[in-house]
Amino acid sequence: MRNKFIPYGHQWIDKKDINEVAKTLGTDWITQGPKIGEFEEAVCKYCRAKYGVALSSGTAALHAAYSVAGIGLGDQVITTPLTFAATANTAAHCGAELVFVDIQKETLNINPKEVEKKITKKTRAISIVDFAGHPCDFNEIKKIAEKYNLLIIEDAAHSLGSEYRGKKIGSLADMTIFSFHPVKTITTGEGGMVLTNRKDFYDKLKIFRHHGITKKPEKGDWYYEIENPAYNYRLTDFQCVLGISQLKKLNKFIKKRREIVAEYNKAFKNIKEIITPKEKNYLKSAWHIYVIQLCLDKLRVNRRKIFKALRKNNIGVQVHYMPLHLHPFYQRKFGYKKGDFPVAEEYYQRAITLPLFPKMTNEEVKRVIKTTKKIINSYRK
Ligand SMILES: Cc1ncc(COP(=O)(O)O)c(C=O)c1O
Repeated sequence: MRNKFIPYGHQWIDKKDINEVAKTLGTDWITQGPKIGEFEEAVCKYCRAKYGVALSSGTAALHAAYSVAGIGLGDQVITTPLTFAATANTAAHCGAELVFVDIQKETLNINPKEVEKKITKKTRAISIVDFAGHPCDFNEIKKIAEKYNLLIIEDAAHSLGSEYRGKKIGSLADMTIFSFHPVKTITTGEGGMVLTNRKDFYDKLKIFRHHGITKKPEKGDWYYEIENPAYNYRLTDFQCVLGISQLKKLNKFIKKRREIVAEYNKAFKNIKEIITPKEKNYLKSAWHIYVIQLCLDKLRVNRRKIFKALRKNNIGVQVHYMPLHLHPFYQRKFGYKKGDFPVAEEYYQRAITLPLFPKMTNEEVKRVIKTTKKIINSYRK
């Protein structure tokens, strides 16, 4: 019998989650209702942030964050090429020019040393991404942002529950965005949130989520005005109760993720064809994904071959990500080309994401390790 497919990421929904959603579906509120505020408060409390605005996805949260920051045509946003497209696509939708900065080899995050070199009079924001859950070196980024009066937008789609120098991700940047897609550390199906300590951003985010509508009760109960047209980016109440229920389990989920990572690291420690991901000692990663890098000079084949062999064995590996400057849109629009960001490109040639999710069984973890070792062994030089 063939082994079951092990995906690279998967939600963990239990009976309690299902009961909560079912209960809410029976109430009067199945779109945005009283549960949205509860969910926002719960995430703020967990992350120690002042304000939270839940939205229909992490992408919507990014779009809202750039928009309320006033980023538009003629502005530049600095970010990493090693991220999911939404980080940059949403800034491009606002009219911004995307200025990529290469990554650091050891953390795979934007290289703070390179950021300052790319700042111009047009730079408005630095958009950092905590790749795989490993927080960026925030203090380094903050120094630069303060020096040039720039906003920091943290795409923390990977890092809900991660900590930087003893602080939970979510209260450090001007705005932090989370995604609650099923592969993330908690899920609402689709969903996202922006956290901020700034009241002005908070007020604007709530308006942005709901078409740009501002109510004016003094002019009548029905009366509202549109200052700036926006979107329907609302999250439903039944998704919010799922989020509240999931959040209660986040620490347990992270503990499980960290145990699996420790097991992988131990198993691959002496395999010289594999570089395992590292965690800086002044932070704690929530480990959204576990990416190994292949030492291609020690192997007879390229990444594609090893990826295919793993998939053939029903190990649901992935690649996170093809650097953004290699996509046709970013080349056409901003003139990027292959060779522009050598560290990200080299990483991309070697990277494979192995399955990692809290519901993984010990047998599944062992199977991933055994299969990976066997395949690497068979292609060793
Ligand atoms: C780094 C990053 N940013 C943004 C997003 C977008 O989140 P969502 O899928 O909730 O729109 C993702 C999701 O994959 C992501 O990984």
